[in-house]
Amino acid sequence: MLDTPKNAQERRAAHPAVPIRAMRAEGTRIAVELGDGGSAELSTRWLRLACECEVCGDTASGKRWLTPADVAKTVHADSFDLSKPGQVTAIWQDGHVSHYDAAALADHVDGSGPARFRPCLWNSDLSGRLGRFGFDAVVADDEALFASLQALRDQGIAMLTGVPAETEATARVAGRYGPIRETSYGKVFDLISRPDARVAGETARAQIPHTDEPFRYAPPGFIFFHAIRTGAGSGGTSLMVDGFQVAELMRARTPELFDLLTRHGVTFHREHEGEVFFSAEAHVISLDVAGAVTGIRYNDRCLAPQWAPVDRIDGLIEALAELTRLIRDPQNQFQHQLQPGEVLVFDNQRVLHGRTEFDPSLAVRHLRSCNIDRDGVHSAFRSLARRFAPDEAEAVLYQGAIF
Ligand SMILES: [Fe+2]
Repeated sequence: MLDTPKNAQERRAAHPAVPIRAMRAEGTRIAVELGDGGSAELSTRWLRLACECEVCGDTASGKRWLTPADVAKTVHADSFDLSKPGQVTAIWQDGHVSHYDAAALADHVDGSGPARFRPCLWNSDLSGRLGRFGFDAVVADDEALFASLQALRDQGIAMLTGVPAETEATARVAGRYGPIRETSYGKVFDLISRPDARVAGETARAQIPHTDEPFRYAPPGFIFFHAIRTGAGSGGTSLMVDGFQVAELMRARTPELFDLLTRHGVTFHREHEGEVFFSAEAHVISLDVAGAVTGIRYNDRCLAPQWAPVDRIDGLIEALAELTRLIRDPQNQFQHQLQPGEVLVFDNQRVLHGRTEFDPSLAVRHLRSCNIDRDGVHSAFRSLARRFAPDEAEAVLYQGAIF
């Protein structure tokens, strides 16, 4: 069962936080008496730090003046006042007065913590579920933009259609999702097959699905592939893989190999002599604090010779080999022949992209690409969720290939 914000909300509707009837200081804890006769506890230090009055400052804006060091372990509340509906007031030993929203406090006492968004996994079955959004709607209408951001959150991939072939149009639609990242190739760059190819994307060869630039400490976030000319019929079919789905397959089938990829540092590198030399040591699969997959980085073409003691190196190589086999398995690949005017948008720290080989003598293949940082996209999502789906705004989202 997916713990989507909607489900979390339903859970809360089924088990609403019980109202607070009374509060009493008991040393470092505060005893909370609940409306249903039950009891709970709060940390006194936590409650003092939760104050967001004008003197203590506001954490959302960052105009915050109270620090953890300002609240002693021995902080003590003299009394609580619950007489005003919807409000809890604490009077502290130094005379400071704090007001809290009673419902928010009851939610905290409930102890279930913030809802964690669980992504919708996919394999070759994606095509029926892939979100498709028109260029005109996304550039002009915030609600359509938000719908596409929900699809990117859920599945890590979406399709934009009817995008004009001009560079300005690529930048205009991509810029709706966040600031475009300046890269070594510029902001919006062209990928055209050419004989003096500098990167694999410019060759006509097949590419195993991969994430781009895993050799950067912070790999590109969301990638936009805008199809200008695709030479349809000559090959070059896009192969997209949900890295989270593949990781979960590994977790279920070969837990010891999955575990290695979440714990063993793997080195990815890229060097153009005298110009750039990138090297990053990171986990192929990143987990969040709850053990859920939160990001993936993998590109077989950027793997450096790995270091591990001789009794462990074969295990690591087998883990990378198993991951590669799963990525190459057509059952795990959504295959799509891009058409001019389509833009494939995907989360480069979740979705791997590749393509079949094509015949450059039959047609020129021309894609235009740009990158947007993931936190910018998620910020756009949360801001619009405040307007269009308030219940979804505060769920903890998967944060990418963070280590
Ligand atoms: Fe790539």
